[in-house]
Amino acid sequence: MQVEYALGGIFLNCTHQISITGPACQKLSPDYSSTNIPDMPPCSFKPEEYKGMSKERMLQIRRQYCNPMIMKGTSYKNPVFVNQGYMQWLWDVDGKRYLDLFAGVATVSVGHCHPKVTAAAQEQLKRLWHTTIIYVYPAIHEYCEKLAAHMPDPLKMVYLTNSGSEANDLAMLMARFHTGNHDIITLRGSYHGGSPQTMGLTSYASYKFPVASNSGCSNTMCPDVFRGLWGGSHCRDSPVQTTRDCGCGQGHCMAKEQYIGQLKETLATSVPGRIAAFFAEPIQGVGGAVQYPKTYLKEAYELVRERGGVCIADEVQTGFGRTGSHFWGFQGHDVLPDIVTMAKGIGNGFPMGAVVTTPEVAASFAKCLHFNTFGGNPMACTVASAVLDVRIPSLNNTAMNFKPNILQVSRDPLPTEDMLEIFEEVKDMGVLIGKGGLYGQTFRIKPPMCITKEDADFFLAVFNKCIHSYMERR
Ligand SMILES: Cc1ncc(COP(=O)(O)O)c(C=O)c1O
Repeated sequence: MQVEYALGGIFLNCTHQISITGPACQKLSPDYSSTNIPDMPPCSFKPEEYKGMSKERMLQIRRQYCNPMIMKGTSYKNPVFVNQGYMQWLWDVDGKRYLDLFAGVATVSVGHCHPKVTAAAQEQLKRLWHTTIIYVYPAIHEYCEKLAAHMPDPLKMVYLTNSGSEANDLAMLMARFHTGNHDIITLRGSYHGGSPQTMGLTSYASYKFPVASNSGCSNTMCPDVFRGLWGGSHCRDSPVQTTRDCGCGQGHCMAKEQYIGQLKETLATSVPGRIAAFFAEPIQGVGGAVQYPKTYLKEAYELVRERGGVCIADEVQTGFGRTGSHFWGFQGHDVLPDIVTMAKGIGNGFPMGAVVTTPEVAASFAKCLHFNTFGGNPMACTVASAVLDVRIPSLNNTAMNFKPNILQVSRDPLPTEDMLEIFEEVKDMGVLIGKGGLYGQTFRIKPPMCITKEDADFFLAVFNKCIHSYMERR
């Protein structure tokens, strides 16, 4: 077995990967022996005692009345029955406390039931739950102005939705309508949503249905310097590098050139001469926290624009400060998209999404009529405004304490059963993490951004222990 811990980004990039891929094991930094588990960091918040439905009854209803897709999506052999949340903590119905490092799938950005966000929501609940854009009300204007202030020029035109899939659906429509072209290119391994349209963008077999969803959607090789054909230990613009040999000279990434070559092949073979758009997540999320080689996106954007296309950054997972060093993931690539889509962290768990674009693209869109009953709803706007008001602490300084320490043998994924075993044990020891990657090979850590160094130390100790136990069992 090989284990790669890519832990440096836990602070510097709150979106980062831990991928477990093959034979051999190496030490975490800081160094914990396999039995040295510190106590879970204290928490003074007292959750309410749970007096609701039994766990057995909930599971029975889940099996009997909920679409089986819900059961299929349920994590863990012994699921977590969540009762309450506060900041980085979740409590189950038995009162057991968990350190939540997955944040409801990279969504709870500033902390569960963050007091400022909760207070703002409560005030708005008493005032007005719902009205739509057919009337003029303060919450939507306060929010659009505030969000626009977080965007670089000329990305200032905001359109609000209820989810990331809806935002990406609209971005596809805007790109096609604005350019007059139809074809859209995405990266293999990407996830852009589950609606019939966005399923065409998504390039991940598990999330595809055998229905006609991808008219005009093509994909190109993902520039994954860890698992892809090319890549080495200097290729990412990140504190988390691979251990692959790197033949790149100073300022000259060979892996990037090979992957750009693949994009050129796609442009030459799979789409017409003029295209509508190129979609990319700044760091692939569901695909397994994949980081691209330096300047890949910059060159890709140039090629796309030469063919009349617009460049779309899907910031559903990477936006709102999650990459630590920048507020938006695209800023880490030194690119300026034409359209930015967002959701998840935007509302700290309140259903919301947005498409932000330039005045030109927005003006093209406004030539037809589009309406969304809940997009821009006053509750959602109030919550999202409060999220922007919460100052996210910078954890960058602590990044220095964690240097990824990687020993590589192969990059083959561990069998799913083995991954699940480790995943279950980490949960039983009180830490919730996520999983992803095309082969289920990546443990994903996307915590509420209020976590502390003590929380991370605790997780590292737990994770180390679980890996040691797994190695011993084998
Ligand atoms: C990058 C990305 N885009 C879009 C989506 C779709 O968002 P939603 O589930 O809100 O429709 C997701 C969801 O995981 C995502 O990770």
